[in-house]
Amino acid sequence: MTRLIVISNRVNVPTAEDKSAAGGLSMALTAALREYQGIWFGWSGQLAETFTGQIAMRRINGVTSATIDLEEQDYEEYYNGYANNVLWPLFHFRVDLTEYDRAFDAGYARVNARFAETVRPLIEPDDIVWVHDYHLIPCGEELRKRGLQNAMGFFLHVPWPPRQLLSTLPKHTELVRSLFSYDLVGFQTEEWLEAFVDFITQEVGGKREPDGRLTCFGRTICVAAFPIGIDADEFMQMPNSREGRAAYVRIKKSLVERALVIGVDRLDYSKGIDARFQAYEAVLDTDPDLAGRVVMVQIAPPSREDVNAYQLIREQLDSLAGHVNGKFSDFDWTPLRYVNRGYPREELAGIYRASRVAFVTPLRDGMNLVAKEFIAAQDPEDPGVLILSQFAGAAAQLGDALIVNPFSPDDMVDALRRALTMPLAERKRRYESLIRCVREQDVIWWRERFVSALQGIRKHGGAKGLRAVS
Ligand code: G6P
Repeated sequence: MTRLIVISNRVNVPTAEDKSAAGGLSMALTAALREYQGIWFGWSGQLAETFTGQIAMRRINGVTSATIDLEEQDYEEYYNGYANNVLWPLFHFRVDLTEYDRAFDAGYARVNARFAETVRPLIEPDDIVWVHDYHLIPCGEELRKRGLQNAMGFFLHVPWPPRQLLSTLPKHTELVRSLFSYDLVGFQTEEWLEAFVDFITQEVGGKREPDGRLTCFGRTICVAAFPIGIDADEFMQMPNSREGRAAYVRIKKSLVERALVIGVDRLDYSKGIDARFQAYEAVLDTDPDLAGRVVMVQIAPPSREDVNAYQLIREQLDSLAGHVNGKFSDFDWTPLRYVNRGYPREELAGIYRASRVAFVTPLRDGMNLVAKEFIAAQDPEDPGVLILSQFAGAAAQLGDALIVNPFSPDDMVDALRRALTMPLAERKRRYESLIRCVREQDVIWWRERFVSALQGIRKHGGAKGLRAVS
């Protein structure tokens, strides 16, 4: 029987009692794993004195998770180092923030080999293997080195950078070559897919086959865009859950009739939170009538706190938030509530429902699921307005949002003003188009397209026998 083996840096199987702590993606993967009787393999999030390769197997809510502890050096060189000091900034077009170090390279290779070595004995000949994200690009090659012949796919959750940026990475060709160990490589959008194809055909002498597959380094692989979605039907119910309702009532009460502008992001420089604060400041500057009539809530749980660039953005945001509040606050009005903690999904759904505007303005983002969750949480009779950066992968699908260029202060200010005054009829028209897309192209659609493409490869005996994925 075909089982699904999911391999990712983090493993987040929600327990029956506490589903709310898990994100939409982990809920979706959990559902797929339950259906295919699979295993979810990855890092436990814990550090051990030395790496032992000992696997902790757990069966939670019908899903088997298999996790390993890493050691301090792995955490420094692989996770903080190569993944989050090199690949993350580079893939988000921030070459200026990359801090390349040869030791990071070695750590990244070592941990990918450790992942492959440890998970290999758990994989049976009929299983299909699905590796996730930038932490584990070479994992497939390491598995092939260990004799694995199974159908194997890779999905990149973040953008793929243009070749002019990618070529700044030392040993970039090796990294790209390792992707050709997979049978199927998926990207969030056509734009990232095209950037990959461009690299292969322009930099390393690869060829695009008439059916869309790519041939390079002696292998032919399938490549396609698979925009990730949310569990829309479930999220649409969440504002009505007990926790969702309670959060809605609590925030509404605190607003005292003021319009709410919401932002929810991991505290990351790629999210453009600073530009958002500045746009809000400019709106308040130029529109004194708004004083006391609007509140912006920015929820930003800290992330990757051992990495310099994250410490820096945190300081900048602390200072900007203080500046905006110092400048405009009244004794009964705080214009900007900047909150460094996360909330369960149900509560976020209640907060989204209470918002007039979602300000989702990343400078670069693989997809951005907050945009989709905000839409799913709206009241169809009185929906809020989504302002969305043209540089989020989601903009390719959600064209009826107010699309902005986050690098243009004027654009940001105009969009915020327009969103705050948009008539109900226009809000409804935009919402109806957006919710249709969020529901049709949901997370189940995403994973079924990916998994069935991989299964097709298995049936046809490898990528060579498969037509391009449509
Ligand atoms: C992004 C990445 C994920 C990652 C998540 C949280 O969404 O694409 O792979 O898990 O951020 O980041 P963290 O470093 O906390 O795992």
